[in-house]
Amino acid sequence: MSAQRLLMKKIIIAIDGYAGAGKSTTAKEVARQLKYNYVDSGAMYRAITLYFIRHQIALDDSEAVHRALEALDISFLYDPIQQKSITCLNGEDVEQEIRKMYVSDYVSDVSKLLEVRQKVMVLQLKLGESKGIVMDGRDIGSKVFPFAELKIFMIADLETRAARRLEELQAKGEVFSLEEIIENLRNRDQIDTTRKESPLVQAEDAILLDSTHISFTEQAEFVLNLARRKIEEYH
Ligand code: CDP
Repeated sequence: MSAQRLLMKKIIIAIDGYAGAGKSTTAKEVARQLKYNYVDSGAMYRAITLYFIRHQIALDDSEAVHRALEALDISFLYDPIQQKSITCLNGEDVEQEIRKMYVSDYVSDVSKLLEVRQKVMVLQLKLGESKGIVMDGRDIGSKVFPFAELKIFMIADLETRAARRLEELQAKGEVFSLEEIIENLRNRDQIDTTRKESPLVQAEDAILLDSTHISFTEQAEFVLNLARRKIEEYH
């Protein structure tokens, strides 16, 4: 199919799954090849978490949570030099900061709150308005875009996920042991899958992708083939 035809009908691709299962690398590559926008919904939860940490917002103080959510603004800027999207919190580039472990340690607690999820959902729906997006997260196929044309649910063994995350953090100069990372992933998986508001769950019509034993290229190709077929169906 020509690139021109691919651009004709745009779909929404939702990639959900566990921390470190390869969602963002897959989503970025799929978006790049289809010339779609990649949206990292975890970055929105992480930016809110950073704001809450900096302003010492108590999660059980609903007034304070409400005021904080009104005061914060999340946006994405495209950096043409790095060729990637930069997450901004009230205009400040927080792309690096939100990936740090102290944010990872707290983000699942913040993401449990209904008001936080509602704020993020408004943004997500806006970004999805003109379709042509690949969004990754936990509840994209099950809650945010239940009518997404393609839903993928990514899983991988805990040890594999932790090893990948360790490598990512090491590349950024953050030093943690494998055990610490396993602990963080296990905690987040537990909170994310058991929370009341839109828990991490495989949508009924989502296609399962286990990335434990496959390469980055294979996982991206798997999703791209499905996406191209879906796009084709619309002609
Ligand atoms: O990249 P990684 O898998 O480590 O996590 P992330 O996508 O950056 O998401 C960080 C956290 O945000 C998750 O552990 C969830 O608690 C929360 N999140 C969520 O609740 N719903 C989403 N759609 C995306 C993230």
